[in-house]
Amino acid sequence: MLQAKITAYAKINLVLDVLRKREDGYHEVAMVMQAVDLSDTIHLKESERNWITTNNRHIPMNMNNLAMRAVTLLQREFPGAVPKLEVSLEKNIPVSAGMAGGSTDCAGVMLGINKMCNLGLTQQELEQLAAQLGSDIPFCIGGPTALATGRGELIEPLPECPELHLVVVKPPFGISTPKVYGNLRVNEITEHPDVKACIAGLHAKDKSQILNAMGNVLEQSTFELQPKVKKIKEGMCACGGKHVLMSGSGPTVFAAFEERTQAEQYYDIVKSQYPGAILTRTVTKEQLDERVE
Ligand code: C5P
Repeated sequence: MLQAKITAYAKINLVLDVLRKREDGYHEVAMVMQAVDLSDTIHLKESERNWITTNNRHIPMNMNNLAMRAVTLLQREFPGAVPKLEVSLEKNIPVSAGMAGGSTDCAGVMLGINKMCNLGLTQQELEQLAAQLGSDIPFCIGGPTALATGRGELIEPLPECPELHLVVVKPPFGISTPKVYGNLRVNEITEHPDVKACIAGLHAKDKSQILNAMGNVLEQSTFELQPKVKKIKEGMCACGGKHVLMSGSGPTVFAAFEERTQAEQYYDIVKSQYPGAILTRTVTKEQLDERVE
């Protein structure tokens, strides 16, 4: 019987810049994306019908789930080669958080099916298929560090980020990505993050340059829609975080550190205020290479 186990990693945006609103309604972006060591576990198993089980009651348990859409997309593209599947999702990544939880599960299912069913798709071919399902999914096929442009689906690998340590706070509510983009007034963005400086920092393996270049132009829009996110960012700065940023369209906020000990000390302070805080780090290429078993 065909089966596979996949570890699907979350992401953060070290840099998220929006350049313009496009005619198709999407926004042209430039994002430095980074996979982080916070993961969901997916089990795929040949079955008599397509179905999904999960330990999390906040995600759709039907064919609208991105993981199931990955299954049906590959079944349609490769009739006969991909059997009906049971998808079992063990969620650890916060849901509706701005950490690509749904996107990485979708990418993980595609990677798992590709290997399990010997489809022989290259990374680039998988990325192209993944782009049909969502803007953040192509990044989740590859990683661990990449520049995403277009609507986020055009991926250019970047040198692997030197290990950074992260403290992540996910507020107890989600936020709608379309609403955050819809509320954004691109012409009023006065301060654009320095994407080039971040990329230069990655090439130089200079942690301090990478951290100093962090920025996300969606913060303002999310703060307007949900002022509690701004409060959390301010709270995390007040706890001593020097590099604190919202990830994606939010509402997750993370603080980044060069050294583990700094992050651990900070985590002890932050978790007394935000009990759900998570201490994690960036993911290595070796970890990603072992995602599918
Ligand atoms: O591509 P995805 O389904 O993840 O995008 C969700 C929504 O987020 C889009 O329908 C759009 O409203 C918004 N979006 C955008 N510009 C992007 C990515 C997403 O406006 N680059």
